[in-house]
Amino acid sequence: MPLTRKAYRAAILHSIADPAEVGIEASYEYFEDGLLVIDNGRISAVGHAGDLLPTLPADIEVTHYQDALITPGLIDTHIHLPQTGMVGAYGEQLLDWLNTYTFPCESQFADKAHADEVADIFIKELLRNGTTTALVFGSVHPQSVNAFFEAAEKLDLRMIAGKVMMDRNAPDYLTDTPESGYQENKALIERWHGKGRLHYAVTPRFAPTSTPEQLALAGQLLGEYPDLYIQTHISENKQEIEWVKALFPERNGYLDVYDHYKLLGERSVFAHGVHLCDDECARLAETGSAVAFCPTSNLFLGSGLFNLPMAEKHKLNVGLGTDVGGGTSFSLLQTLNEAYKVMQLQGARLSPFKSLYLATLGGARALRLEDRIGTLHPGTDADFLVLDYNATPLLSYRLKQANNIAETLFVLMTLGDDRTVLQTYAAGQRVHQR
Ligand code: GUN
Ligand code: ZN
Repeated sequence: MPLTRKAYRAAILHSIADPAEVGIEASYEYFEDGLLVIDNGRISAVGHAGDLLPTLPADIEVTHYQDALITPGLIDTHIHLPQTGMVGAYGEQLLDWLNTYTFPCESQFADKAHADEVADIFIKELLRNGTTTALVFGSVHPQSVNAFFEAAEKLDLRMIAGKVMMDRNAPDYLTDTPESGYQENKALIERWHGKGRLHYAVTPRFAPTSTPEQLALAGQLLGEYPDLYIQTHISENKQEIEWVKALFPERNGYLDVYDHYKLLGERSVFAHGVHLCDDECARLAETGSAVAFCPTSNLFLGSGLFNLPMAEKHKLNVGLGTDVGGGTSFSLLQTLNEAYKVMQLQGARLSPFKSLYLATLGGARALRLEDRIGTLHPGTDADFLVLDYNATPLLSYRLKQANNIAETLFVLMTLGDDRTVLQTYAAGQRVHQR
């Protein structure tokens, strides 16, 4: 097969380490006039255009962007497909919000045609916001996950998803049983896990909506197939935490419920974790588990302020999540805008390079995919973005006042959104053009 080699010339920036571990300056690479070379869906070189251009064949196709920044594709470590139609639902906190808005909206996914329609909208929305990989909750219906993976496979996206397991404390029309949930998971895993760039995640919604029997079966599934993910929610809301204590009085807190059923590990992602204590962060870190920080959702649902410095102290893997529809935007740029404010309210800082890390390499590490995505290192998947400095009149004017890449990056994260994403590439193919 002939090589399909292409090159992209622009300013190029990627995160290569956690600023909390190596300091800001060693955490990124920036090429003011950079070149990204792609061979057959993978990155083959990145560096200064002046160094790389002479090494390439004279007839290589080079796309040259002015006033633009190439970054890795963004990684959303927590989002709900069947909540696309209920973003911005008024007035409730978590438990009432679930009953009033979420469950009725998710019930529509019993219909495969509806699931197909929303999966298409959802994937377009991810790509136009520059998100190339997401860890996705389906609904309780297997067809929600089939619809999502069918659409993701057509575009050769690297995506992770699973059907919700929920066998109590939810309306009858939206529950499975331990046995049916287990069998449905097995069928989905066998159809999708490891197919192309797709991965499967066992997805018990949260401790209150699964019986001990179902949580045990979730743990059993993890043992039955290699490299499965598990995703769930934890310690998001104070009422929720009290409810978990009442439902599992024999366990020593919320995390201990999941620990008991063997749900902690290197491919375990726990969403929110707003009210985790020191010991729980230590246990999560010790088991290699990750937390998805979901600032727009935590603010919108009044859940609280995530303590990122505490997670850093424990070297806990943290990714960024939009948590649509509890979250209010598909844009990880806008999610970082809110993350900055969440840190400000706690008297802490969030540097633009830590933000870049969270949205790219940090997310990749949370998902144990840093050898494939999250940076522009040669050998990794060619999932990348072109951000447009002139996306809006205000952005254009504001960026002309920026003196360096740190300021530019921070302004992109404060003013940027889907309009800022000029193009999105996945496995070297353009999958979004603004
Ligand atoms: N906890 C249990 N289910 C959900 C959900 O759908 N969204 C959020 N934000 N928290 C949850
Ligand atoms: Zn969620």
